Amino acid sequence: MLLPMPEQPDEAPNTDVPASWWRDGVLYQVYPRSFADSDGDGIGDLVGIRERLDHLQWLGVTGIWLNPTMPSPNDDWGYDVADYLAVHPDLGTMDDLDALIAAARERGIRVLLDLVPNHTSDRHPWFVDALSGRDAPDRDVYVWAPPAPDGGPPNNWISNFGGSAWTLHEPTGEYYLAQFLPTQPDLNWWNEEVRQRFDDILRFWFRRGVAGFRIDVCHAIVKDRELRDDPPVTPDDHRELRHRSVKPVYSANRPEVHDVLRRWRDVADACADDADGDTPILVGETYVLELDELLPFYGTGRDELHLAFNFLFVHADLDADQMREIVEGVEAGLPPDAWPVYTGSNHDAGRLTTRWAQDDERRARAALLILLTLRGTPFLYYGDEIALPNVPLDAETALDPVARRTGDPSDNRDVCRTPMPWTDAPGGGFTTAEATPWLPFGDLAAHNVAAQRDDPASTLHLVRDLIALRRGTTDLTAGAYVTLDAPAGAWAYRRGDGFAVAVNLSDAPVTVEGLDGAVAIATDRARDGEPVAGALELGPWEGAVVELG
Ligand code: GLC
Repeated sequence: MLLPMPEQPDEAPNTDVPASWWRDGVLYQVYPRSFADSDGDGIGDLVGIRERLDHLQWLGVTGIWLNPTMPSPNDDWGYDVADYLAVHPDLGTMDDLDALIAAARERGIRVLLDLVPNHTSDRHPWFVDALSGRDAPDRDVYVWAPPAPDGGPPNNWISNFGGSAWTLHEPTGEYYLAQFLPTQPDLNWWNEEVRQRFDDILRFWFRRGVAGFRIDVCHAIVKDRELRDDPPVTPDDHRELRHRSVKPVYSANRPEVHDVLRRWRDVADACADDADGDTPILVGETYVLELDELLPFYGTGRDELHLAFNFLFVHADLDADQMREIVEGVEAGLPPDAWPVYTGSNHDAGRLTTRWAQDDERRARAALLILLTLRGTPFLYYGDEIALPNVPLDAETALDPVARRTGDPSDNRDVCRTPMPWTDAPGGGFTTAEATPWLPFGDLAAHNVAAQRDDPASTLHLVRDLIALRRGTTDLTAGAYVTLDAPAGAWAYRRGDGFAVAVNLSDAPVTVEGLDGAVAIATDRARDGEPVAGALELGPWEGAVVELG
């Protein structure tokens, strides 16, 4: 591959952990339909992302993950892929993607795509063939089973979007599995042919300069071969599971998934870019809610995923005890070569400013300070850098298939997929003044990039300065995490020998004892540079990074 070398940061090489864009940098999730619209059709596109790379470079991110970019009927907004080797025409062309990858590399930014291996669209040619008869060549590419004796579904598995996970195909008399929409049939990962087809898909994109994949539904691609019933959910299960009737024990997270991950890791390692030694990375949507289920996705730390999204952390409250316990568990349990990853927002869970911070910007700033100072790669979601909240939207007009199915506005994922507010002008700097954006804006005057760039005290500058501090300081990238004593409601930790972080996640003022040095960056920027002699007082929802000394 002959792409330009990325700019290397100036800081001294990191001795404990190899300096790398994905371990030492900060990654950023872009929802392509909502980032920037270059052609005035109200839908964001790849050229739009390229035109906004200056923002990402200024912010200091080292990689972006693009939500699905492949052709799709958009029943589930790209997570229903109809062709794994092409670009969705709404978003542009293959040339646009190549140009984005090259332009990003020139700015030291790598591009990750979203890979959807659990299911395809029902309009994918493989499924069209599979429907043509029980003996169709691609029949076994999907999961089929005969009806139960009463003619009902083969077992009790439920769809993540509600209802049975099985759909009867009357012409052939069998049920097929679809763990999301019935138009998203699950692939059969016991079939070697499926594995080979995906090996080729990975190689195709790696050779084009794609720096890795975020892997959708990574934990659930392999299902129990015997299709055993899932057990009922119990009161001891994680609260995110309790709305379900059954716990995904046989329908997800089977041990055999690790064979596939090791296979993909081999494919990635074999595609290392000869020019700069860059190996593509695998980032899993590992939606499991117990630490002892999450950690195995790293394998030995060298042979499975590079990063396994931590949904325990995503679904924790912005609470000192809850978050500290999860981080301590990761620190104690991860193999030495593995690397944590933390995030607060995404296109499913919602935006951290609303979820964690109840639309209170002080709380959002405290959360961002934590994300950007933990030991592990932070993933920001577009808009996090300006503390963008969810945009309240009703279920009747929802474009999200989940809200359309349930009619429940709290299921509506559109609220966190709204266009990026770049300015407060009509069109928000996202699209033209005349165009109707595919989803509505929130309050453009309250949150936009341009206004925050003009304000050094803004969340945007806080995020940028935290990223710069992190990238320029080995302690904040590779340095060990050590929990420090902190009063109730607060969380304090040391990073390496040189830095401590203290955050007050409560409504009462606190004093964190035992710190000496000076405030490097505080959520209240007026405190930057303040000397710290023995104790740091923090007001409600205030946090600070302290340079020890
Ligand atoms: C993942 C995606 C989500 C999608 C689902 C089905 O959870 O993040 O957006 O709806 O998979 O593909």
